[in-house]
Amino acid sequence: MCGIVGYTGPVGGTGALDVVLEGLRRMEYRGYDSAGIVIEADGVLSVDKRAGKLANLEKALTDEPLPLGVTGIGHTRWATHGGPTDANAHPHLSADGRLALVHNGIIENFATLKAELVADGVQFSSETDTEVAAHLVGRAYEDLGDLTEAMRAVCNRLEGAFTLLAVHAGEPGVVVGARRNSPLVVGRGEGANFLGSDVAAFIEYTRQAIELGQDQVVTITKDDVAVIGFDGAPAQTTEYHVDWDASAAEKGGYPNFMMKEIEEQPRAVADTLLGRTDAEGHLVLDELRISESVLRSVDKIVVIACGTSSYAAQVAKYAIEHWCRVPTEVELASEFRYRDPVVNEKTLVVGISQSGETMDTLMAVRHAREQGAKVIAICNTHGSTIPRESDAVIYTHAGPEVAVASTKAFLAQITACYLLGLYLAQLRGNKYEDEVRELLRRLAEVPDQIQQVLDSIEPVRQLGREMANAKVVLFLGRHVGYPVALEGALKLKELAYIHAEGFAAGELKHGPIALIEEGLPVFVVVPSPRGRDSLHGKVVSNIQEIRARGARTIVIAEEGDDDVVPFADTIIRVPQTPTLLAPLVTTVPLQVFACELAMAKGLDVDQPRNLAKSVTVE
Ligand code: F6R
Repeated sequence: MCGIVGYTGPVGGTGALDVVLEGLRRMEYRGYDSAGIVIEADGVLSVDKRAGKLANLEKALTDEPLPLGVTGIGHTRWATHGGPTDANAHPHLSADGRLALVHNGIIENFATLKAELVADGVQFSSETDTEVAAHLVGRAYEDLGDLTEAMRAVCNRLEGAFTLLAVHAGEPGVVVGARRNSPLVVGRGEGANFLGSDVAAFIEYTRQAIELGQDQVVTITKDDVAVIGFDGAPAQTTEYHVDWDASAAEKGGYPNFMMKEIEEQPRAVADTLLGRTDAEGHLVLDELRISESVLRSVDKIVVIACGTSSYAAQVAKYAIEHWCRVPTEVELASEFRYRDPVVNEKTLVVGISQSGETMDTLMAVRHAREQGAKVIAICNTHGSTIPRESDAVIYTHAGPEVAVASTKAFLAQITACYLLGLYLAQLRGNKYEDEVRELLRRLAEVPDQIQQVLDSIEPVRQLGREMANAKVVLFLGRHVGYPVALEGALKLKELAYIHAEGFAAGELKHGPIALIEEGLPVFVVVPSPRGRDSLHGKVVSNIQEIRARGARTIVIAEEGDDDVVPFADTIIRVPQTPTLLAPLVTTVPLQVFACELAMAKGLDVDQPRNLAKSVTVE
């Protein structure tokens, strides 16, 4: 989703252009379809903005450089109102051209405001909701003569979600930002200050950050940061040190961020488990600031999330119900509040989000809390909105996920779900302490098992390259293998633009088996033979059924599972894990397959077409 960078630095300096462009490069991972920049030099604003990748803007700036200045704003836009064109790209200017403004989010009442402005003779040069804000702040400045006050006055008229940044020709060296339901962080430097959608925008220059609260306006100059509320009162802020270093956001020798992030999964899972047990080996979740009595009284759990995170939610359902014996539902966040769900004080809602900014999930979290439910966020991004608006949070420690499609965050989310399930089971007395400890011990072994999968992954890469021309691929799984199949299919759709579907293997005979034809590749995620009842045998029968109809069977099976051998055209082996923990290893070959196949097709796996990393619109 949109990325925002603001900078103001030393007088006499010339660096704004370089700093803002570098910030935009670091924002690329959020997904965007146009980019723009404004430089303020001696009270003169100069703007350039281009549809397409940042390279287009950089080329334009090389051909026709902007004047050098000490203050600037940059923006990468993911189109919502109006297509990805030069005209719709940000910044947008006020009617007198003295104010430039960029925006992330959606101004929900823009149509009414625009009608007012048009009736007053204002001419619009784009289809965006943003331009409304540019005109309004520009006009407010004419009346008030102060950019901070103008911004505050306008924010009080806007509805929806927005981060706004503005510079005005009348206030050289000043950048003003504001936020509601959309992220904005301040980077505090030495003789220079920064604003960004996230810390990646300025991490190259400073690690000192300030978290802005809801409905706040921030004004930065090179030496000062001042924050007030939309009501005009001075606001409390929290300063913190960012411990992600810039190199954590680099590719580190891999061809793309996705491969790097897939390889980082043993670390992501291990780090997520880190520090969760006390000296006696008891599971402790310090961040869970919901009282034990409330957690004991919960009679239903609802897990809400979107996309890949929703598949982590499905794994959570199997684990939590099995370990805690509490009915657990999984719901797509985008559907949750629209079906009038039965949620009350005895419901525990778990919202899973890598970014912590997904609007569908945020709205579902708010709805759940309004109904009296307690909400626990499982999130990878510190200080993001969803954890801030939840009663408690379990942070996953996967580190920054730069590739748009999620990989390491998914495994970290599943890990956090296991921790939550075991914690509740321990607290509610569904499992004895030694049982919890044994499961934690097995969980602690998983990072090494993921590493084993990665160490023997070459045949999977080879398979990906061989299948670069596939048109359709199916994925089957049962029990916790079903969400893994769904995730395998989603990865292939997103990265390689191949039509892929995931099915519960037991459902095949109820319809989808009609799709099977000679040579159709079908991945089957096989449950452990040591697992539940006759599930393993049933999946082996499913493999036979599709192979008899001509499918090319690619089977992911545990080491030592010989039953699959006669019916598998290709076998991908994974280490033996407890049944419920298997998704942490069985997902990995499917991620690598999709990534390698997309690379063989010459596609940009880090930024697939039409996708955004952080989806901050409903
Ligand atoms: C798929 C993917 C998306 C996200 C979804 C939710 O690879 O990345 O499906 O999982 O948009 O995002 P978060 O977890 O940030 O709420």
